[in-house]
Amino acid sequence: MTGYRILHVAAEVTPLMKTGGLADVAQALPGALRALGHDARVLMPGYGGALKRARAVGEVRLVAHWGSARLLETELEGGCPLWLYETPEFAQRGEYPFGDAAGVPWADNAERFDEFARVAVALADDALGLGWRADVVHGHDWHAGLVPVHLQLARVPAASVFTIHNLAYPGLFDLATRARLGLPGWLEHWQALEFRELLSFIKGGLVFSDRVTTVSETYAGEICTPDRGEGLDGVLAARGADLVGIVNGIDTQAWDPAADPQVPVSFDADEPMGKAQARRALLAETDLEAGADVPVVAYVGRLAQQKGVDTLLAALDGIVDLPAVLIVLGAGEPALERGLAQAMERRPDRVRATIGFDEGFAHRLYAGADMLIVPSHFEPCGLSQLNAMRYGTIPVVHRTGGLAETVVDASETARADGSATGFQFDELTPEAVVAALARAYALFGEPERWRDLMVSAMRRDSSWSRSARAYGALYDEALDTRRRRLPP
Ligand code: ADP
Ligand code: GLC
Repeated sequence: MTGYRILHVAAEVTPLMKTGGLADVAQALPGALRALGHDARVLMPGYGGALKRARAVGEVRLVAHWGSARLLETELEGGCPLWLYETPEFAQRGEYPFGDAAGVPWADNAERFDEFARVAVALADDALGLGWRADVVHGHDWHAGLVPVHLQLARVPAASVFTIHNLAYPGLFDLATRARLGLPGWLEHWQALEFRELLSFIKGGLVFSDRVTTVSETYAGEICTPDRGEGLDGVLAARGADLVGIVNGIDTQAWDPAADPQVPVSFDADEPMGKAQARRALLAETDLEAGADVPVVAYVGRLAQQKGVDTLLAALDGIVDLPAVLIVLGAGEPALERGLAQAMERRPDRVRATIGFDEGFAHRLYAGADMLIVPSHFEPCGLSQLNAMRYGTIPVVHRTGGLAETVVDASETARADGSATGFQFDELTPEAVVAALARAYALFGEPERWRDLMVSAMRRDSSWSRSARAYGALYDEALDTRRRRLPP
Protein backbone atom coordinates (compact mmCIF):
# COMPACT_ATOMS: atom_id res chain seq x y z
CA MET A 1 0.00 0.00 0.00
CA THR A 2 1.36 3.39 -0.92
CA GLY A 3 0.44 6.66 0.73
CA TYR A 4 -2.57 8.35 -0.87
CA ARG A 5 -3.81 11.92 -0.82
CA ILE A 6 -7.24 11.58 0.77
CA LEU A 7 -9.77 14.36 1.18
CA HIS A 8 -12.32 13.70 3.95
CA VAL A 9 -15.52 15.69 3.56
CA ALA A 10 -17.63 16.00 6.70
CA ALA A 11 -20.23 18.38 8.12
CA GLU A 12 -18.83 18.19 11.65
CA VAL A 13 -15.35 17.61 13.04
CA THR A 14 -14.30 17.46 16.71
CA PRO A 15 -13.44 19.84 18.39
CA LEU A 16 -14.74 22.52 16.02
CA MET A 17 -18.32 21.30 15.71
CA LYS A 18 -19.83 18.16 17.20
CA THR A 19 -23.38 16.95 17.47
CA GLY A 20 -22.51 13.25 17.59
CA GLY A 21 -20.09 10.47 16.69
CA LEU A 22 -19.56 11.58 13.08
CA ALA A 23 -17.49 14.51 14.37
CA ASP A 24 -15.24 12.18 16.37
CA VAL A 25 -14.69 9.89 13.39
CA ALA A 26 -13.99 12.81 11.02
CA GLN A 27 -11.29 13.99 13.43
CA ALA A 28 -9.70 10.68 14.42
CA LEU A 29 -9.74 8.62 11.20
CA PRO A 30 -7.72 11.12 9.10
CA GLY A 31 -5.16 11.28 11.91
CA ALA A 32 -4.91 7.48 11.98
CA LEU A 33 -4.50 7.41 8.17
CA ARG A 34 -1.71 9.96 8.42
CA ALA A 35 0.02 7.74 10.98
CA LEU A 36 -0.01 5.01 8.27
CA GLY A 37 1.72 7.32 5.81
CA HIS A 38 -1.28 8.72 3.93
CA ASP A 39 -1.70 12.43 3.29
CA ALA A 40 -5.23 12.73 4.69
CA ARG A 41 -6.91 16.12 5.00
CA VAL A 42 -10.35 17.29 6.02
CA LEU A 43 -12.90 19.76 4.63
CA MET A 44 -15.79 21.05 6.73
CA PRO A 45 -18.14 24.06 6.57
CA GLY A 46 -17.00 27.21 8.33
CA TYR A 47 -19.93 27.71 10.69
CA GLY A 48 -19.49 30.76 12.94
CA GLY A 49 -19.14 28.58 16.05
CA ALA A 50 -16.51 26.35 14.43
CA LEU A 51 -14.44 29.32 13.35
CA LYS A 52 -14.59 30.88 16.78
CA ARG A 53 -13.22 27.66 18.29
CA ALA A 54 -10.60 27.24 15.57
CA ARG A 55 -9.29 30.74 16.24
CA ALA A 56 -9.18 30.08 19.97
CA VAL A 57 -6.86 27.09 19.56
CA GLY A 58 -4.56 28.10 16.71
CA GLU A 59 -3.78 30.01 13.57
CA VAL A 60 -6.44 30.17 10.84
CA ARG A 61 -5.09 31.21 7.44
CA LEU A 62 -6.99 32.46 4.41
CA VAL A 63 -5.90 30.36 1.42
CA ALA A 64 -8.44 31.30 -1.27
CA HIS A 65 -11.49 33.48 -1.79
CA TRP A 66 -14.04 34.06 -4.52
CA GLY A 67 -17.04 36.39 -4.16
CA SER A 68 -18.08 36.24 -0.52
CA ALA A 69 -16.82 32.64 -0.11
CA ARG A 70 -13.51 31.93 1.59
CA LEU A 71 -11.39 28.86 2.08
CA LEU A 72 -9.55 28.90 5.40
CA GLU A 73 -6.93 26.48 6.62
CA THR A 74 -5.95 25.33 10.07
CA GLU A 75 -4.66 22.16 11.71
CA LEU A 76 -6.24 19.59 13.96
CA GLU A 77 -4.32 18.48 17.01
CA GLY A 78 -1.65 16.10 15.71
CA GLY A 79 -1.13 18.18 12.57
CA CYS A 80 -3.86 17.04 10.16
CA PRO A 81 -4.67 19.94 7.79
CA LEU A 82 -8.27 21.09 7.97
CA TRP A 83 -9.98 23.33 5.43
CA LEU A 84 -13.01 25.38 6.38
CA TYR A 85 -15.34 26.51 3.61
CA GLU A 86 -16.85 29.74 4.86
CA THR A 87 -19.70 31.74 3.36
CA PRO A 88 -21.94 34.29 5.09
CA GLU A 89 -24.72 31.65 5.12
CA PHE A 90 -22.60 29.00 6.86
CA ALA A 91 -21.08 31.60 9.22
CA GLN A 92 -24.59 32.66 10.23
CA ARG A 93 -25.43 29.14 11.45
CA GLY A 94 -23.23 29.76 14.49
CA GLU A 95 -23.53 26.76 16.82
CA TYR A 96 -26.32 25.10 14.81
CA PRO A 97 -24.97 23.23 11.77
CA PHE A 98 -28.17 21.58 10.50
CA GLY A 99 -31.20 23.26 12.05
CA ASP A 100 -32.27 25.96 14.47
CA ALA A 101 -32.28 25.72 18.28
CA ALA A 102 -35.68 23.98 18.16
CA GLY A 103 -34.28 21.36 15.75
CA VAL A 104 -36.13 22.65 12.65
CA PRO A 105 -33.83 22.03 9.64
CA TRP A 106 -32.46 25.18 7.99
CA ALA A 107 -34.47 26.00 4.85
CA ASP A 108 -31.33 26.31 2.71
CA ASN A 109 -29.71 22.96 3.60
CA ALA A 110 -29.92 21.64 0.02
CA GLU A 111 -28.20 24.73 -1.41
CA ARG A 112 -25.55 24.80 1.31
CA PHE A 113 -24.54 21.14 1.12
CA ASP A 114 -24.68 21.10 -2.68
CA GLU A 115 -22.30 24.04 -2.68
CA PHE A 116 -20.16 22.28 -0.08
CA ALA A 117 -19.89 19.19 -2.34
CA ARG A 118 -18.91 21.35 -5.32
CA VAL A 119 -16.15 22.97 -3.27
CA ALA A 120 -14.92 19.53 -2.18
CA VAL A 121 -14.64 18.53 -5.84
CA ALA A 122 -12.85 21.77 -6.75
CA LEU A 123 -10.36 21.13 -3.95
CA ALA A 124 -9.88 17.49 -4.94
CA ASP A 125 -9.06 18.60 -8.49
CA ASP A 126 -6.92 21.52 -7.34
CA ALA A 127 -9.16 23.95 -9.22
CA LEU A 128 -8.25 26.49 -6.54
CA GLY A 129 -4.53 26.20 -7.29
CA LEU A 130 -3.37 25.13 -3.84
CA GLY A 131 -0.89 22.62 -5.24
CA TRP A 132 -2.68 19.56 -3.82
CA ARG A 133 -4.87 17.08 -5.66
CA ALA A 134 -6.74 14.15 -4.08
CA ASP A 135 -6.37 10.51 -5.10
CA VAL A 136 -9.43 9.62 -3.03
CA VAL A 137 -12.35 11.73 -1.86
CA HIS A 138 -14.03 10.23 1.18
CA GLY A 139 -17.44 11.72 2.05
CA HIS A 140 -19.43 11.14 5.22
CA ASP A 141 -23.24 11.01 5.55
CA TRP A 142 -25.86 12.82 3.47
CA HIS A 143 -24.18 16.22 3.81
CA ALA A 144 -21.44 14.89 1.50
CA GLY A 145 -23.78 12.76 -0.60
CA LEU A 146 -23.46 14.94 -3.70
CA VAL A 147 -19.64 14.71 -3.68
CA PRO A 148 -19.45 11.56 -5.88
CA VAL A 149 -22.18 13.04 -8.11
CA HIS A 150 -20.21 16.23 -8.76
CA LEU A 151 -16.98 14.21 -9.15
CA GLN A 152 -18.63 12.34 -12.01
CA LEU A 153 -20.30 15.39 -13.53
CA ALA A 154 -16.98 17.23 -13.51
CA ARG A 155 -15.10 14.12 -14.71
CA VAL A 156 -12.58 14.44 -11.92
CA PRO A 157 -10.54 11.23 -11.85
CA ALA A 158 -10.27 10.86 -8.04
CA ALA A 159 -11.75 7.68 -6.57
CA SER A 160 -14.70 8.15 -4.23
CA VAL A 161 -15.60 6.43 -0.99
CA PHE A 162 -18.77 7.18 0.92
CA THR A 163 -19.41 6.26 4.55
CA ILE A 164 -22.90 5.84 5.99
CA HIS A 165 -22.84 6.81 9.64
CA ASN A 166 -26.59 6.73 9.95
CA LEU A 167 -29.02 5.72 7.20
CA ALA A 168 -31.92 7.23 9.14
CA TYR A 169 -30.74 10.71 8.08
CA PRO A 170 -31.08 10.62 4.27
CA GLY A 171 -31.13 14.35 3.41
CA LEU A 172 -34.46 14.49 1.53
CA PHE A 173 -35.71 17.51 -0.43
CA ASP A 174 -38.55 18.05 -2.89
CA LEU A 175 -37.84 17.15 -6.50
CA ALA A 176 -37.91 20.78 -7.63
CA THR A 177 -34.64 21.18 -5.70
CA ARG A 178 -32.86 19.32 -8.49
CA ALA A 179 -33.41 22.04 -11.08
CA ARG A 180 -32.88 24.79 -8.52
CA LEU A 181 -29.42 23.38 -7.84
CA GLY A 182 -28.71 23.23 -11.57
CA LEU A 183 -28.34 19.43 -11.53
CA PRO A 184 -29.10 17.54 -14.77
CA GLY A 185 -32.53 16.02 -15.25
CA TRP A 186 -31.33 12.43 -15.57
CA LEU A 187 -30.42 12.49 -11.85
CA GLU A 188 -34.16 12.54 -11.15
CA HIS A 189 -34.37 8.80 -11.64
CA TRP A 190 -34.83 5.96 -9.16
CA GLN A 191 -31.43 4.60 -10.15
CA ALA A 192 -29.90 7.99 -9.35
CA LEU A 193 -31.10 10.53 -6.74
CA GLU A 194 -34.88 10.04 -6.81
CA PHE A 195 -36.38 8.41 -3.72
CA ARG A 196 -40.17 8.11 -3.30
CA GLU A 197 -40.72 11.25 -5.37
CA LEU A 198 -38.16 13.20 -3.43
CA LEU A 199 -34.52 14.08 -4.04
CA SER A 200 -32.22 12.06 -1.76
CA PHE A 201 -28.73 13.38 -1.11
CA ILE A 202 -27.58 10.17 0.57
CA LYS A 203 -28.41 8.23 -2.60
CA GLY A 204 -25.69 10.24 -4.31
CA GLY A 205 -23.20 8.54 -2.00
CA LEU A 206 -24.81 5.11 -2.23
CA VAL A 207 -25.15 5.02 -6.02
CA PHE A 208 -22.25 7.05 -7.41
CA SER A 209 -19.29 6.33 -5.15
CA ASP A 210 -16.72 3.65 -6.01
CA ARG A 211 -17.07 2.05 -2.57
CA VAL A 212 -19.67 2.41 0.18
CA THR A 213 -18.81 1.72 3.78
CA THR A 214 -20.65 1.79 7.04
CA VAL A 215 -19.38 1.83 10.57
CA SER A 216 -19.78 -1.81 11.65
CA GLU A 217 -20.09 -5.14 9.89
CA THR A 218 -23.34 -5.88 11.69
CA TYR A 219 -24.97 -2.64 10.53
CA ALA A 220 -23.69 -3.30 6.99
CA GLY A 221 -25.77 -6.49 7.05
CA GLU A 222 -28.76 -4.88 8.78
CA ILE A 223 -29.16 -2.07 6.22
CA CYS A 224 -29.53 -4.59 3.41
CA THR A 225 -32.80 -5.75 5.01
CA PRO A 226 -36.23 -4.04 4.85
CA ASP A 227 -36.19 -3.72 8.65
CA ARG A 228 -33.24 -1.35 8.83
CA GLY A 229 -32.78 -0.35 5.21
CA GLU A 230 -34.94 2.80 5.42
CA GLY A 231 -36.29 1.91 1.97
CA LEU A 232 -32.76 1.83 0.54
CA ASP A 233 -32.01 -1.85 1.22
CA GLY A 234 -32.51 -2.72 -2.46
CA VAL A 235 -30.08 -0.02 -3.59
CA LEU A 236 -27.55 -1.16 -0.99
CA ALA A 237 -27.88 -4.87 -1.68
CA ALA A 238 -27.35 -4.09 -5.38
CA ARG A 239 -23.88 -2.73 -4.54
CA GLY A 240 -22.91 -6.26 -3.47
CA ALA A 241 -19.26 -6.47 -2.44
CA ASP A 242 -18.84 -2.71 -2.92
CA LEU A 243 -20.54 -2.22 0.46
CA VAL A 244 -18.39 -3.05 3.48
CA GLY A 245 -18.55 -2.55 7.23
CA ILE A 246 -15.48 -1.19 8.99
CA VAL A 247 -15.94 -0.73 12.70
CA ASN A 248 -15.16 2.64 14.26
CA GLY A 249 -12.39 3.22 16.72
CA ILE A 250 -11.86 6.12 19.10
CA ASP A 251 -9.03 8.58 19.60
CA THR A 252 -7.30 6.76 22.45
CA GLN A 253 -5.28 9.86 23.31
CA ALA A 254 -8.32 12.07 23.70
CA TRP A 255 -10.05 9.29 25.65
CA ASP A 256 -7.31 8.18 28.03
CA PRO A 257 -8.07 7.62 31.73
CA ALA A 258 -4.32 7.77 32.46
CA ALA A 259 -4.01 11.31 31.10
CA ASP A 260 -7.33 13.09 30.85
CA PRO A 261 -7.23 16.78 31.75
CA GLN A 262 -11.02 16.76 32.23
CA VAL A 263 -10.90 14.08 34.94
CA PRO A 264 -9.55 14.86 38.44
CA VAL A 265 -7.71 11.51 38.87
CA SER A 266 -5.86 9.18 36.55
CA PHE A 267 -6.08 5.41 36.32
CA ASP A 268 -5.67 2.61 33.80
CA ALA A 269 -5.95 -1.16 33.46
CA ASP A 270 -2.75 -1.68 35.48
CA GLU A 271 -3.78 0.75 38.22
CA PRO A 272 -7.61 0.70 38.18
CA MET A 273 -7.99 1.86 41.77
CA GLY A 274 -8.14 5.55 40.84
CA LYS A 275 -11.56 4.86 39.37
CA ALA A 276 -13.08 4.75 42.85
CA GLN A 277 -11.88 8.31 43.36
CA ALA A 278 -13.28 9.39 39.99
CA ARG A 279 -16.60 7.92 41.12
CA ARG A 280 -16.54 9.86 44.39
CA ALA A 281 -15.74 13.06 42.48
CA LEU A 282 -18.65 12.40 40.10
CA LEU A 283 -21.08 11.83 42.97
CA ALA A 284 -19.89 15.04 44.63
CA GLU A 285 -20.24 16.97 41.36
CA THR A 286 -23.80 15.72 40.86
CA ASP A 287 -24.69 15.98 44.54
CA LEU A 288 -25.78 12.35 44.74
CA GLU A 289 -25.19 9.72 47.38
CA ALA A 290 -24.46 6.08 46.60
CA GLY A 291 -22.72 3.57 48.85
CA ALA A 292 -20.11 1.22 47.41
CA ASP A 293 -22.85 -1.37 46.85
CA VAL A 294 -25.02 0.99 44.77
CA PRO A 295 -23.84 1.23 41.15
CA VAL A 296 -23.70 4.52 39.27
CA VAL A 297 -25.40 3.99 35.90
CA ALA A 298 -24.73 6.57 33.17
CA TYR A 299 -26.43 7.46 29.91
CA VAL A 300 -24.60 9.74 27.46
CA GLY A 301 -26.11 10.51 24.09
CA ARG A 302 -28.42 12.41 21.82
CA LEU A 303 -31.99 12.42 23.09
CA ALA A 304 -33.46 11.05 19.89
CA GLN A 305 -35.91 8.29 19.02
CA GLN A 306 -33.00 6.11 17.77
CA LYS A 307 -31.42 6.00 21.21
CA GLY A 308 -34.28 4.30 23.09
CA VAL A 309 -34.53 7.00 25.75
CA ASP A 310 -38.29 6.37 25.84
CA THR A 311 -37.57 2.81 26.98
CA LEU A 312 -35.01 4.07 29.47
CA LEU A 313 -37.64 6.40 30.97
CA ALA A 314 -40.12 3.53 31.18
CA ALA A 315 -37.49 1.42 32.95
CA LEU A 316 -36.47 4.18 35.34
CA ASP A 317 -38.18 2.96 38.52
CA GLY A 318 -36.92 -0.56 38.01
CA ILE A 319 -33.38 0.75 37.55
CA VAL A 320 -33.22 2.99 40.61
CA ASP A 321 -34.87 0.32 42.75
CA LEU A 322 -32.10 -2.22 41.97
CA PRO A 323 -30.82 -0.04 43.77
CA ALA A 324 -28.76 2.22 41.50
CA VAL A 325 -28.34 5.89 40.75
CA LEU A 326 -28.82 7.11 37.20
CA ILE A 327 -26.96 10.07 35.70
CA VAL A 328 -28.01 11.23 32.24
CA LEU A 329 -26.20 13.64 29.93
CA GLY A 330 -27.95 14.48 26.69
CA ALA A 331 -29.79 16.97 24.56
CA GLY A 332 -32.34 16.67 21.81
CA GLU A 333 -36.07 16.12 21.53
CA PRO A 334 -37.99 18.42 23.89
CA ALA A 335 -40.40 15.66 25.01
CA LEU A 336 -37.49 13.44 26.11
CA GLU A 337 -35.76 16.37 27.81
CA ARG A 338 -39.01 17.04 29.73
CA GLY A 339 -39.39 13.36 30.60
CA LEU A 340 -35.91 13.30 32.10
CA ALA A 341 -36.46 16.53 34.04
CA GLN A 342 -39.65 15.01 35.48
CA ALA A 343 -37.84 11.79 36.40
CA MET A 344 -35.29 13.84 38.30
CA GLU A 345 -38.04 15.71 40.15
CA ARG A 346 -39.71 12.43 41.04
CA ARG A 347 -36.55 10.70 42.25
CA PRO A 348 -34.18 13.49 43.34
CA ASP A 349 -32.25 11.04 45.53
CA ARG A 350 -31.43 8.72 42.62
CA VAL A 351 -31.63 10.53 39.28
CA ARG A 352 -29.69 13.40 37.72
CA ALA A 353 -30.27 14.71 34.21
CA THR A 354 -27.97 17.28 32.66
CA ILE A 355 -29.60 18.63 29.54
CA GLY A 356 -27.06 20.07 27.12
CA PHE A 357 -23.84 19.21 25.33
CA ASP A 358 -20.88 19.13 27.71
CA GLU A 359 -17.69 17.40 26.57
CA GLY A 360 -15.91 17.81 29.92
CA PHE A 361 -18.80 16.35 31.90
CA ALA A 362 -19.03 13.48 29.42
CA HIS A 363 -15.40 12.57 30.22
CA ARG A 364 -16.03 12.73 33.98
CA LEU A 365 -19.17 10.66 33.60
CA TYR A 366 -17.41 7.90 31.62
CA ALA A 367 -14.63 7.98 34.20
CA GLY A 368 -16.77 7.97 37.34
CA ALA A 369 -19.71 5.72 36.44
CA ASP A 370 -19.80 1.96 37.01
CA MET A 371 -22.07 1.10 34.10
CA LEU A 372 -23.25 2.73 30.88
CA ILE A 373 -26.72 1.89 29.61
CA VAL A 374 -27.12 1.98 25.80
CA PRO A 375 -30.73 1.07 24.91
CA SER A 376 -30.60 2.15 21.23
CA HIS A 377 -33.29 0.78 18.91
CA PHE A 378 -30.55 0.59 16.29
CA GLU A 379 -26.94 1.72 16.38
CA PRO A 380 -24.68 1.88 13.30
CA CYS A 381 -21.62 1.68 15.54
CA GLY A 382 -21.89 3.73 18.72
CA LEU A 383 -18.92 5.39 20.32
CA SER A 384 -20.21 5.90 23.85
CA GLN A 385 -19.74 2.21 24.71
CA LEU A 386 -16.14 2.39 23.40
CA ASN A 387 -15.41 5.50 25.47
CA ALA A 388 -16.98 3.83 28.52
CA MET A 389 -14.94 0.61 28.20
CA ARG A 390 -11.75 2.62 27.96
CA TYR A 391 -12.57 4.06 31.40
CA GLY A 392 -13.57 0.71 32.92
CA THR A 393 -17.28 1.58 32.82
CA ILE A 394 -19.21 -1.52 31.89
CA PRO A 395 -21.58 -1.09 28.94
CA VAL A 396 -25.00 -2.70 29.12
CA VAL A 397 -26.26 -2.63 25.54
CA HIS A 398 -29.09 -3.66 23.24
CA ARG A 399 -27.74 -6.38 20.95
CA THR A 400 -27.91 -4.42 17.70
CA GLY A 401 -25.54 -2.94 15.09
CA GLY A 402 -22.13 -1.93 16.35
CA LEU A 403 -23.16 -2.50 19.96
CA ALA A 404 -23.52 -6.23 19.28
CA GLU A 405 -20.09 -6.28 17.67
CA THR A 406 -18.02 -4.21 20.11
CA VAL A 407 -19.30 -5.44 23.47
CA VAL A 408 -18.69 -9.05 24.54
CA ASP A 409 -21.41 -10.30 26.87
CA ALA A 410 -20.19 -11.45 30.28
CA SER A 411 -21.38 -15.03 29.93
CA GLU A 412 -19.58 -17.50 32.15
CA THR A 413 -17.43 -18.70 29.28
CA ALA A 414 -16.49 -15.19 28.20
CA ARG A 415 -15.60 -14.24 31.75
CA ALA A 416 -13.53 -17.39 32.12
CA ASP A 417 -11.49 -16.71 28.97
CA GLY A 418 -11.15 -13.00 29.77
CA SER A 419 -12.96 -11.76 26.67
CA ALA A 420 -16.05 -10.35 28.46
CA THR A 421 -16.42 -6.57 28.41
CA GLY A 422 -20.09 -5.86 29.19
CA PHE A 423 -23.67 -7.09 29.02
CA GLN A 424 -26.11 -7.45 26.15
CA PHE A 425 -29.88 -7.82 25.99
CA ASP A 426 -31.97 -8.99 23.07
CA GLU A 427 -35.31 -7.27 23.28
CA LEU A 428 -35.71 -3.56 23.73
CA THR A 429 -38.32 -3.46 26.51
CA PRO A 430 -38.21 -1.76 29.93
CA GLU A 431 -38.22 -5.21 31.54
CA ALA A 432 -35.24 -6.39 29.49
CA VAL A 433 -33.31 -3.20 30.30
CA VAL A 434 -33.89 -3.72 34.03
CA ALA A 435 -33.08 -7.43 33.79
CA ALA A 436 -29.78 -6.74 32.01
CA LEU A 437 -28.82 -4.13 34.59
CA ALA A 438 -29.79 -6.62 37.29
CA ARG A 439 -27.34 -9.13 35.78
CA ALA A 440 -24.66 -6.46 35.88
CA TYR A 441 -25.70 -5.52 39.41
CA ALA A 442 -25.28 -9.12 40.57
CA LEU A 443 -21.69 -9.20 39.35
CA PHE A 444 -21.07 -5.72 40.74
CA GLY A 445 -21.78 -7.31 44.15
CA GLU A 446 -18.67 -9.49 43.68
CA PRO A 447 -15.89 -6.87 43.71
CA GLU A 448 -13.07 -9.11 42.49
CA ARG A 449 -15.00 -10.48 39.54
CA TRP A 450 -16.23 -7.00 38.73
CA ARG A 451 -12.67 -5.71 38.74
CA ASP A 452 -11.63 -8.45 36.30
CA LEU A 453 -14.44 -7.40 33.98
CA MET A 454 -13.44 -3.74 34.29
CA VAL A 455 -9.86 -4.56 33.46
CA SER A 456 -10.75 -6.61 30.39
CA ALA A 457 -13.03 -3.78 29.19
CA MET A 458 -10.18 -1.30 29.68
CA ARG A 459 -7.78 -3.56 27.79
CA ARG A 460 -10.02 -3.75 24.71
CA ASP A 461 -8.19 -2.28 21.72
CA SER A 462 -10.55 0.44 20.52
CA SER A 463 -7.82 2.36 18.71
CA TRP A 464 -8.20 3.26 15.06
CA SER A 465 -5.12 1.43 13.79
CA ARG A 466 -6.73 -1.77 12.50
CA SER A 467 -9.73 -0.02 10.94
CA ALA A 468 -7.53 2.67 9.38
CA ARG A 469 -5.59 -0.12 7.66
CA ALA A 470 -8.88 -1.58 6.43
CA TYR A 471 -9.77 1.82 4.91
CA GLY A 472 -6.32 1.92 3.32
CA ALA A 473 -6.97 -1.42 1.61
CA LEU A 474 -10.38 -0.17 0.49
CA TYR A 475 -8.80 2.92 -1.09
CA ASP A 476 -6.55 0.55 -3.10
CA GLU A 477 -9.66 -1.18 -4.42
CA ALA A 478 -11.55 2.06 -5.09
CA LEU A 479 -8.60 3.44 -7.06
CA ASP A 480 -8.44 0.23 -9.06
CA THR A 481 -12.11 0.52 -9.95
CA ARG A 482 -11.66 4.17 -10.87
CA ARG A 483 -8.70 3.46 -13.14
CA ARG A 484 -10.70 0.84 -14.98
CA ARG A 485 -13.61 3.27 -15.43
CA LEU A 486 -11.56 6.14 -16.80
CA PRO A 487 -11.96 6.88 -20.50
CA PRO A 488 -8.82 6.07 -22.49
P1 ADP B 1 -24.35 9.30 17.65
O1 ADP B 1 -23.29 9.63 16.67
O2 ADP B 1 -25.45 8.51 17.08
O3 ADP B 1 -24.84 10.48 18.39
P2 ADP B 1 -22.21 7.86 19.05
O4 ADP B 1 -22.26 6.99 20.25
O5 ADP B 1 -21.55 7.33 17.86
O6 ADP B 1 -23.70 8.32 18.76
O7 ADP B 1 -21.41 9.19 19.38
C1 ADP B 1 -21.85 10.12 20.30
C2 ADP B 1 -20.67 10.96 20.71
O8 ADP B 1 -21.15 12.20 21.20
C3 ADP B 1 -19.87 10.34 21.85
O9 ADP B 1 -18.54 10.78 21.78
C4 ADP B 1 -20.57 10.92 23.08
O10 ADP B 1 -19.73 10.95 24.21
C5 ADP B 1 -20.90 12.31 22.60
N1 ADP B 1 -22.08 12.93 23.20
C6 ADP B 1 -23.38 12.66 22.94
N2 ADP B 1 -24.19 13.47 23.64
C7 ADP B 1 -23.39 14.26 24.37
C8 ADP B 1 -23.63 15.33 25.30
N3 ADP B 1 -24.87 15.71 25.61
N4 ADP B 1 -22.57 15.96 25.85
C9 ADP B 1 -21.31 15.55 25.53
N5 ADP B 1 -21.02 14.57 24.67
C10 ADP B 1 -22.04 13.94 24.09
C1 GLC C 1 -23.78 7.93 13.73
C2 GLC C 1 -24.34 6.72 14.42
C3 GLC C 1 -23.41 6.12 15.45
C4 GLC C 1 -21.98 6.10 14.98
C5 GLC C 1 -21.57 7.50 14.56
C6 GLC C 1 -20.13 7.56 14.08
O1 GLC C 1 -24.16 9.13 14.30
O2 GLC C 1 -25.62 6.95 14.99
O3 GLC C 1 -23.83 4.80 15.75
O4 GLC C 1 -21.13 5.64 16.00
O5 GLC C 1 -22.38 7.94 13.52
O6 GLC C 1 -19.89 6.70 13.01
